[in-house]
Amino acid sequence: MLAKTFLPFVFLGLVCAMAPANFRVHEKLNAAPQGFTSVGPASPEQTITLRLALAQDNAPGLVDALYSVSDPASSKYGQHLTKQEVEDLVSPKSDTKDAINAWLQENGLTATTLSPAGDWISIQVPVSKANELFDANFTTFTQGDAGKNVVRTLSYSLPEVLQGHVDLVHPTVSFPSYIELSSAPKQKRSFHSVMQRNPLSACSTTNTTIPCLQELYGIPRTPATQKNNSLGVTGFFGNNAHTDFLKVFLETYRPDMDPNTNYTFVGFDGGVNDPTAPSVSEGELDIQYTVGLATNVNVTYYFGGFDIHDGDLFGFFDEINFLLSLDNPPLVLTTSYGSSESSLTFDLVDKACQAYAQLGARGTTILFAAGDSGVGCGRTNQTLFSPMFPSDCPFVTSVGGTQSFSPEEAWIHSGGGFSNYYARPSYQDAAVSAWLATHGKENGNEGRFNTSGRAFPDIAAKADNFLVYEGIFFPVTGTSASSPTVGSILALINDRLLAKGRSPLGFLNPWLYAKGHKAFTDITIGNSSIQCSSTDAPRGFKATKGWDPVTGFGTPNFHKLLSLLHL
Ligand SMILES: *[C@@H]1O[C@H](CO)[C@@H](O)[C@H](O)[C@H]1NC(C)=O
Ligand SMILES: *[C@@H]1O[C@H](CO)[C@@H](O)[C@H](O)[C@H]1NC(C)=O
Ligand SMILES: *[C@@H]1O[C@H](CO)[C@@H](O)[C@H](O)[C@H]1NC(C)=O
Ligand SMILES: *[C@@H]1O[C@H](CO)[C@@H](O)[C@H](O)[C@H]1NC(C)=O
Ligand SMILES: *[C@@H]1O[C@H](CO)[C@@H](O)[C@H](O)[C@H]1NC(C)=O
Ligand SMILES: *[C@@H]1O[C@H](CO)[C@@H](O)[C@H](O)[C@H]1NC(C)=O
Ligand SMILES: *[C@@H]1O[C@H](CO)[C@@H](O)[C@H](O)[C@H]1NC(C)=O
Ligand SMILES: *[C@@H]1O[C@H](CO)[C@@H](O)[C@H](O)[C@H]1NC(C)=O
Repeated sequence: MLAKTFLPFVFLGLVCAMAPANFRVHEKLNAAPQGFTSVGPASPEQTITLRLALAQDNAPGLVDALYSVSDPASSKYGQHLTKQEVEDLVSPKSDTKDAINAWLQENGLTATTLSPAGDWISIQVPVSKANELFDANFTTFTQGDAGKNVVRTLSYSLPEVLQGHVDLVHPTVSFPSYIELSSAPKQKRSFHSVMQRNPLSACSTTNTTIPCLQELYGIPRTPATQKNNSLGVTGFFGNNAHTDFLKVFLETYRPDMDPNTNYTFVGFDGGVNDPTAPSVSEGELDIQYTVGLATNVNVTYYFGGFDIHDGDLFGFFDEINFLLSLDNPPLVLTTSYGSSESSLTFDLVDKACQAYAQLGARGTTILFAAGDSGVGCGRTNQTLFSPMFPSDCPFVTSVGGTQSFSPEEAWIHSGGGFSNYYARPSYQDAAVSAWLATHGKENGNEGRFNTSGRAFPDIAAKADNFLVYEGIFFPVTGTSASSPTVGSILALINDRLLAKGRSPLGFLNPWLYAKGHKAFTDITIGNSSIQCSSTDAPRGFKATKGWDPVTGFGTPNFHKLLSLLHL
């Protein structure tokens, strides 16, 4: 607790307003992260946008509510919260709103509200003003390889009037980490054109197609029937999805479907659907496989345009805040983008994770690709593994990758590991403890990952050689392919649930770890592997019997899901 040093000034009338604001350091770094070099103070006139996360009324209450509607043992299972119920829990208290408004007014600022609950606002100010408001030292940093400049401060403080009301100011001490696409374009192997127009009836060693996935996981071709069923797909980085490409894809692999079956486009952050935009495989992959697998489900592409602001997560926050503003958010959301956990501050990561909890409480199943870098390479200590955001968040379902098909085995680059930020949630205690006891010390991995952290992935699906049409067909590999595949399957399951008047699956993990895993095919062959430097031996985890940090519980089986859910 800080003493109120300036109390005496209250006797001095007008001087009161000019009293120092009694700042307290709120977040601080000792130095810029590796790879960033200061090039001097940021220009005082440069305008920057700062986002303020305001203290929520009852954040723990929201998490309790999430678990009570997602845990099959709870009497409230499936009774998802309404938009209003979620907002009632997380909206800032009135004293917080009052404090913020008074502070804005005193400083002549106008704020924009960014989230429906009002727990995020933004202000635009010149650097000089930002330095003054938060006792900061905004500096221009350059990032070695990328050669791009970013404005950050190594420390900032909150004036006394904001203490306890503002959780964080961003971007300040969280430096950009270039957001990875789970299927990096470099994973494209070749540019063969598929000549034959007849759908293959099975998987081949070289190609994964719609019929292959239908056969492998028992996915039906029968159209979904429920009007209010929905599947959301996230797009960033200019990853447009071209309708004309989708049409050729459907003609090739779904001759039984109307080739003009389309997806719905919803842009945010300036995202527009530009049919002339160059093709970047992620968007085509995600849309072609969701529309192609989730027959007749309303697929919506939530597209954040080209720029996601150098990895400051603005795009992630803008998307989730937009979805939270909808009366009917998608019942399943699949996202194939992520970043290394360690490059982001816990406070920032946690704001995103808490927002996913809100959407989960409303009944959305949130899937994230587990990443394409195996266990990852530690930034500051190469010995250590490097877990991924947002797969580290306990309130989302992380999807790892498999390869081959007979037998299906762990994909060699499937992301997986243990969070350093989030403790292991109780729903995965039994499964993860069992793995730790038997396999935690294998491969020389002891001490290289956090045995008490939230472990991921939760499940997996095929990741290799998905044929995507971009004027020609070529194979794309990555957990970017796995997540939309699982998303499509779960959307079709939701359709059956809705048809019976039942609730959608919602936040999957408590159900998954309690019983849902029985509907997944355990992957027990293969391993993840990544070499972090030329002198370093490859590191990774093995796929094992039961849950493992490469493929989770394994791959979905539609028929088993139906029977487990009594559908
Ligand atoms: C502010 O940062 C600049 C680098 O941009 C540094 O030269 C200066 O010493 C810092 N000022 C303070 C008061 O820390
Ligand atoms: C796999 O796809 C390629 C095009 O990428 C095609 O040339 C080849 O015939 C396919 N292989 C099989 C076994 O279907
Ligand atoms: C879908 O619509 C049906 C009928 O209008 C309704 O009973 C059900 O609650 C809706 N489900 C969702 C998830 O919105
Ligand atoms: C499909 O939807 C996109 C996005 O809304 C739209 O731009 C495009 O014109 C539609 N294509 C067809 C063939 O209807
Ligand atoms: C599909 O979902 C989008 C986004 O929620 C909605 O705007 C659109 O009306 C839906 N389309 C149909 C055919 O239901
Ligand atoms: C890296 O981490 C390992 C495992 O915790 C530790 O033994 C080692 O001392 C660390 N190395 C450095 C350079 O910090
Ligand atoms: C390991 O995870 C725990 C639980 O989340 C956390 O408290 C601890 O700080 C982590 N350890 C390291 C070295 O990051
Ligand atoms: C993973 O398996 C491959 C092939 O079986 C092997 O060469 C590699 O060394 C393994 N990597 C690790 C980290 O176990």
